[in-house]
Formats: sequence, C-alpha cells, structure tokens
Amino acid sequence: MNLNEIWEKARELMAPNCRACPECNGRACRGEMPGVGAAGDGSSWTACTEFLSRVKIRMDTVHEPWQPDASTELFGVRLSLPLCLAPIGGMNYNYNGAISDGYWSDAAVAGSRMAGVLPFTGDNALSDQYELGLKAAKANGGINVCTLKPWRDNGKIISRGLECAAAGAPALACDIDAAAFANMGDSVSLLAPKSAADLREICSALPIPFIAKGVMTAEGAVKCAEAGCGGIVVSTHGGRVLPSAQATAQVLPEIRRAVGDALTIIVDGGIRTGADIFKVLALGADAAMIGRPFVVAATGGSALEGGAEGVAMYASAKRAELENLMVLTGCRTVGDITAARVAVV
Ligand SMILES: Cc1cc2nc3c(=O)[nH]c(=O)nc-3n(C[C@H](O)[C@H](O)[C@H](O)COP(=O)(O)O)c2cc1C
Repeated sequence: MNLNEIWEKARELMAPNCRACPECNGRACRGEMPGVGAAGDGSSWTACTEFLSRVKIRMDTVHEPWQPDASTELFGVRLSLPLCLAPIGGMNYNYNGAISDGYWSDAAVAGSRMAGVLPFTGDNALSDQYELGLKAAKANGGINVCTLKPWRDNGKIISRGLECAAAGAPALACDIDAAAFANMGDSVSLLAPKSAADLREICSALPIPFIAKGVMTAEGAVKCAEAGCGGIVVSTHGGRVLPSAQATAQVLPEIRRAVGDALTIIVDGGIRTGADIFKVLALGADAAMIGRPFVVAATGGSALEGGAEGVAMYASAKRAELENLMVLTGCRTVGDITAARVAVV
C-alpha cells in the first residue's frame, strides 16, 4: 500500500464528512461542524495555511555530505522527528463512523510508536474517548498523551492525570481552548476556562508535565510557564473554536521570545508537509502537531494493511520530506533549524 492508495480508499470510506482532499486545507469542508471543518467561515484554519505559505525557506547547499538527523526528544520520549499526532475525537459525530473511536485511538498510538512520533488522544463528555486513549497507552508502553477536556472540576483532571502517570505517560494535556466550545452541546456547562491558579493547582498535583493546548498569546504562555506547565500547544483547535483567529505560526515567535526555554512549545493548524514542519521549528516551535491527515491515513489504511500502518506511513513520509529539506538548507540536526533559515514575505 502507498499513500495514494490510502487516500483513495479513505475518500470512498469517509464521504460525505471528509473528502480526503489531496491538499487538506479547510476549503471543501469550510464551516462543517459537527464534521471536520473549521468554525463559521473557516477562516481560523485557512489563516494558518495562508500564513505558512508566506514563510519562505532559505536554501544553503554548500556543505559536507552528511546524513541529516531529524530526531529529537520531547517530554523524555525519543522521536524520529519533531512531530506529534493531534487528539481528534468523535469518529461518529465528526466523521461518518467508517472507523470507531477505539480503532482510531489504537491506530493513532500504535502507528505513532512504529514511526517514532508522539501521539495525543482526546476526551469527551462520555469519557469513553479518554478511556480508549488510556487503554491504547497501556498497550504501547504508556507512550500517549491523553488530552482532557477543561473540566470545571480540577479534581477530575488531577485524578485522571495520576492515572495516566501510573500508566507511564510522558505528560498530560488539556485543551483549555474548548472551555466554550459549541460542538460540546449541553456538556459545555461541565467545562470552564482555567485560571493561573487552576493551572498551578493541577501542575503541582501531577508527577508528569502538564501541557495546556490552545494558547495563542505571549501573555497566556507566560502564565502557563509561571503556573508550572511543562508545555503548551499553540493551537486554535484546527480553527474549530472560533472564526477569525490569528494564524498559529504567526504568533510563535512572540511566544518563544516571551517564555524562552521555560516551556516546550508544540504548534498545530494546517501543518501538512516536511516544509511546514521546518517552518514552524524555525519560527520557535520544538515540535509540530498534525491532526486531520492522520485520521485519513488510519481510515484508508484500515481497508488495506491496517490503520496503524497508514499512520506510520504518513509520519514516515513527513520525516523523509523534512530530512530532504535539512540537506537543502544545511541543517544537520533539528537544532540547526533556526529563524535564520526562513524569511516571512
Ligand atoms: C474532527 C476533529 C475533532 C477534534 N477533537 C479534538 C479533541 O477531542 N481534543 C482536542 O484537543 N483537539 C481536538 N481537535 C483539534 C486537533 O487536536 C488539532 O488541534 C487540529 O485538528 C490541528 O489542526 P490540523 O487538523 O489542521 O492539523 C479536533 C479536530 C478535529 C478536526
């Protein structure tokens, strides 16, 4: 099986919710929620891809013929490239149920392990998605970052975090940008924004790093660092929580300047290629995160050699693309991918 076959198969299986477009850029599914699109006019997603297209890579081809090394370490886990698989929930209500939530979390976590990327799995009002993510973690040496909803009750976040830590998880995450998420329906009343004091309470109770997902300002990132968070995901939830948000890659440099090395910074939103990964690393991220295409890879793969294999194949393709660019830009290691390697036009 190859990625073209996977995408063709996925197109048959995922209609009408996801069209498995050759370029997953938020245009065909604009505004489709529940579904796989972004909120309203879809502009929070398209802003991400448009900004990334304005970041240009500076070639540097005069160097010794070394092999590039794209590997890195994130939360104590050795990765073959700086890439995370995003938490995606609701295979039934967002997709068309071609694969189940259980199949997806198993494929996401096992496929990530095969390719050496870091998986994150989601959470919902029924808690079954959290349970499935924890189960997949346990089957894969604990290496999965369960991403909890921002439950009003901090105790619920802490007790689940302790459960994840006991399973060997490298970190716990929480999509704090879901606090007023319309897609949650009536369950949104169970969620609440997290203050600096809330974050401090949660971080101090956990033996593993806590990652706040959905931070878009330098001020917010500083609060997270001061509260003891280990990391943030610079994210607009794939454009799903509101329209007209800034592009995620655009706010990266100011966030990095504000927090220095105090936080591990992951970024998502329209990242699709090794070039996009290169760009966000140059703008200040420690790692990129990709969401929707991994679900396509797992679904198309499910009908061929397997969902985990589809996930691993997609991640490995990103590594090959990144390594190729590293040769063309004179970057031997990911640490060499600095702001000097790009220009924003
Ligand atoms: C259908 C769908 C469901 C999602 N569910 C969750 C979730 O349960 N938890 C979460 O933190 N983010 C969720 N996200 C957001 C993703 O984790 C991620 O931020 C976003 O998809 C990244 O953008 P990309 O898909 O353009 O790569 C979801 C996104 C989609 C498209």
